[in-house]
Amino acid sequence: MIQRMSSNTDLLARSLSAVWHPCTQMKRHETLPLLPIARGAGVWLYDFDGKRYLDTVSSWWVNLFGHCNPRINAALVDQLGKLEHVMLAGFTHEPVVQLSERLRELAPAGLGHCFYGSDGASATEIALKMSAHYWRNSGNTRKTEFISLKNSYHGETLGALSVTDVALFKDAYGALIKQNATVPSPDWRDADAGESAEDFAQRCAKALEIHLQQHHDLIAAFIIEPLIQGAAGMAMYHPSYLKRARELCSRYGVHLIADEIAVGMGRTGTLFACEQADITPDFLLLSKGITGGYLPLSIVMSTDDIYMAFYADETARGFLHSHSYTGNPLACRAALATLDIFDQDDVLKANRTKAEFFNRIAQPLHDHPKVRNFRNTGMVWAFEVNTPHGDFAQRCFSLGLQQELLLRPMGNTVYFMPPYIITEEEMQMLVTRTLTIIEKLL
Ligand SMILES: Cc1ncc(COP(=O)(O)O)c(C=O)c1O
Repeated sequence: MIQRMSSNTDLLARSLSAVWHPCTQMKRHETLPLLPIARGAGVWLYDFDGKRYLDTVSSWWVNLFGHCNPRINAALVDQLGKLEHVMLAGFTHEPVVQLSERLRELAPAGLGHCFYGSDGASATEIALKMSAHYWRNSGNTRKTEFISLKNSYHGETLGALSVTDVALFKDAYGALIKQNATVPSPDWRDADAGESAEDFAQRCAKALEIHLQQHHDLIAAFIIEPLIQGAAGMAMYHPSYLKRARELCSRYGVHLIADEIAVGMGRTGTLFACEQADITPDFLLLSKGITGGYLPLSIVMSTDDIYMAFYADETARGFLHSHSYTGNPLACRAALATLDIFDQDDVLKANRTKAEFFNRIAQPLHDHPKVRNFRNTGMVWAFEVNTPHGDFAQRCFSLGLQQELLLRPMGNTVYFMPPYIITEEEMQMLVTRTLTIIEKLL
């Protein structure tokens, strides 16, 4: 069959007729057009007419080094000529071994083994199952509950939704989901007037302590997004909360699961967010940026203590979980190329300089009378806009497109989470044009 060349309108019509798009009320596309993307290069996405959009959200927080990065492309082409896939049960391959070894070197000390999944939600499922199974293997069958922070987000599968606190994603499936408790979020936007982010974090940690004191005998694990709760509107909090959470989880015999699916791989300024609290969680979850935004891959790193609790003669004590594409060689190779770029380009240092530059030029946004809570952690910026428009997010998105910006506000929270290769010129463009959009929306 000869492949047809697409145009914007042709592709839109075909997509609406054949594709069920994620996280979307499809009827809204009667009025709100889909965005056809023909190609990507660096921070830019292009449609079929050559119109471009700056990917300020890194395509759902996955892209680190730009679209069609030549170094990741080359690694994948090389890998395609060697091995595209082999099952990981009973077999192994070079990329998965190398990646596991390198992550063990880089991650907080003690996370000795990597278990592989595909998307972020599968990593959440794996960690929850592993945690409860660990307690069962240790002779404790009562620990089957989990806790998470208020407004937490850990994915959309049923187990992941049981530790996700977003009513819109969850309510329709209430009858299918195990109900787990939440504890107060240290999101500093909720601090009292005059209360520091650190004091507020400690106040919330006290609430965690009381909850653990009362319920620890039933709780397998506390799952947390370290430093930034992304889907809560880029809620940021002080690292001292993590430190205290680690102490309390250890004291009460509860696992700490650090969901670094969105915040890992340098997003918060350190390779792993947990480093900023100097802690080792019992489980560390990675996905999204681990492949530079190229291919689905997720990883559950666990401590040696967890690993050894499954190491036995009986099959049923093992972790009998799998996905067909577990540890896919192409995805692992993309991850290795991503780690190479971190090394070769001293990315964390370069990002510090970029973040300083961005904070300087974003001062007009920070000081804008309609902007509240301007905040930054690593390569993430967010702020709320005082707006009379109930449909602010939609209007901002549409105006953004007119300004060549792909902005996806959450409610009235605007955030930037750009690929790390964004240049100073592109950052300036982002600030100036966002200011224009905000002015138009007042
Ligand atoms: C913190 C966190 N955990 C889990 C997930 C789920 O990842 P995925 O969408 O790849 O299933 C996300 C996705 O945004 C996330 O931000």
